[in-house]
Amino acid sequence: MDGETRVDLHYVSSNHQHYKRIYESYETLTDRFEKVNRYCSETFPDIAIENFTRNQQRGETGHQGVFHYLGVGSGSGDSDVVILTQLAKRLPRIEATITEPSDKMIANFKSAISESGNDALQKIKFTWNQATIEEYMKMPQDTKFHCIFLCGVLAYFKDVDQVVQYLYSVLAENGTILIVTEAGNETNIFYEVWYPGRFPSIKEQTGIPDNVIASFERHGAKVTASNLKCILDGSTLFDEESESGNLLLDLMTGVVDCRKTAPPEFLRQLFDFISDSSVSFKQEGKFLLKNDRLLIIVQK
Ligand SMILES: C[S@@+](CC[C@H](N)C(=O)[O-])C[C@H]1O[C@@H](n2cnc3c(N)ncnc32)[C@H](O)[C@@H]1O
Repeated sequence: MDGETRVDLHYVSSNHQHYKRIYESYETLTDRFEKVNRYCSETFPDIAIENFTRNQQRGETGHQGVFHYLGVGSGSGDSDVVILTQLAKRLPRIEATITEPSDKMIANFKSAISESGNDALQKIKFTWNQATIEEYMKMPQDTKFHCIFLCGVLAYFKDVDQVVQYLYSVLAENGTILIVTEAGNETNIFYEVWYPGRFPSIKEQTGIPDNVIASFERHGAKVTASNLKCILDGSTLFDEESESGNLLLDLMTGVVDCRKTAPPEFLRQLFDFISDSSVSFKQEGKFLLKNDRLLIIVQK
C-alpha cells in the first residue's frame, strides 16, 4: 500500500457513490433545500441590499457602485444562483468571486448560469477560484466584499476561527455575511444523534461549530442567528425493506448498509432514541423529524 491511501468504503464519508445515493434520497425527504432557497430569494437579498445602499449613501464605498459578492464552498451554486438572481435584478453592477475546490462543482455552477436563461445573471462578472478557503486566504487580493455567502461548508474548515477572522477582515463596511448551517440543540435530529456523545460509535460527520458565533463576536462583529424551521420525513426509517429508510439510516450513522451491519443492540438504542426524542413527532400519519437550519447573519 506504499504511496496509496487506504479507503474504508464501510464509512459513508469515504464512499462517494453511496453518499451520492444517500444525498439524492435525503433531498426528497426534507423541505430544507426549498426553505433555504426561499429565504435566499425572498428575505436575504433585502438585508444585503439595504446594508449596501446605506453604505453608498454615506459615500463610504470606494467601489464605484460595484457590488462585490463572495461565495465560499458554493458547490453547484444552487443557493448562490438564487441570491445572485435577486441581487442582479436590483443592482446594476455585480462582481462575484466563487471559491470552490471541486472542478466538477464549478462546471455545474457555470452550466446553471448559462442554462438559466436569466439575462441579469449573465451580466455578472464572475471570477472562479478552484480552491479551498484556506488556499484562497493565501492569495494576494484587495477586494472587500458586500456579501459573503456560505451554506453547509463550515464543517469542512480546518480552523473555523481563522476563517472567521479572514472573512470578517474582507467584509466591506456595511457588508453582510450569511452562513447557513445545521441548527443545534433540540431542533435538529442530526445534531441530537451526532453531538451530545449519546452514541459514541457514531463518528462526528458534519461538524456543527457552535463556536462560530462566539468567534465572530470576538472579532467585534454584529451577529444575529435564527432557526429556519425544516422538517424531515422519517416515516420509512422503521421499514426494514425501505430503500429511502435505509439510506437515511446510513446518513445518520455514517455507516454504509447500517441496517445489515450494525449490532442489533446499537440499532435498538438508536430507534428507541429517535422514537422518544423531542425532535420527533407524528402528524397526519407521518413520522416527522425536526431538521432546522441555523441562519447566521453578520454585519459590519
Ligand atoms: C455540502 S457542500 C455545500 C455546497 C453548497 N454550498 C450548497 O449549499 O449546496 C460543501 C461544499 O464545500 C466545498 N468545500 C469543501 N472543503 C472546502 C474548503 N476547505 N473551503 C471551501 N469549500 C470547501 C465542497 O467542495 C462542497 O462543494
